[in-house]
Amino acid sequence: MKKDIETQEDIQSLVETFYDQIKKDELLSPYFFKYMKINLEKRIPIMVQFWENAIFYTGAYSGNPMQLHQALNNHFPMTDEHFNQWIVLWNSTVDVMFEGKKAEEIKQKANSIGVVMKIKILGSE
Ligand code: HEM
Repeated sequence: MKKDIETQEDIQSLVETFYDQIKKDELLSPYFFKYMKINLEKRIPIMVQFWENAIFYTGAYSGNPMQLHQALNNHFPMTDEHFNQWIVLWNSTVDVMFEGKKAEEIKQKANSIGVVMKIKILGSE
């Protein structure tokens, strides 16, 4: 029986494992490590704050992911497959590591954000 997501450390290991999966993913990794060349040491704490706020309502995150992905898409156009693959990786990472109410909630939140982002950015479902 796996545990549920309960602490900041749980979110930290989820986000780290997710980025390990992104690194191995041919479709998504260029966005993170070729076009953007993101610095994981700086990026991971921001992602942790984002997801902590999403499921524990900490108020810790104050960014604008919609704007950020819109700008990213303007430079490096995304397709349906990018969004679908992101969601597949996120859901499978959560499922391998955790189970419970918060685990379901964090998948649900990512899925709804993904749908809205996809509609706004690609203009379709
Ligand atoms: C589908 C659901 C998605 C969600 C929920 C999501 C969420 C996020 C969040 C919360 C951030 C951090 C924002 C910040 O720094 O304040 C981020 C950053 C980023 N996302 Fe996404 N994302 C999604 C899809 C995608 C897709 C499909 C791609 C690329 C194909 C992508 C590429 C990136 C990149 C490159 C960054 C880092 C940008 C930077 O450091 O400037 N994301 N994402």
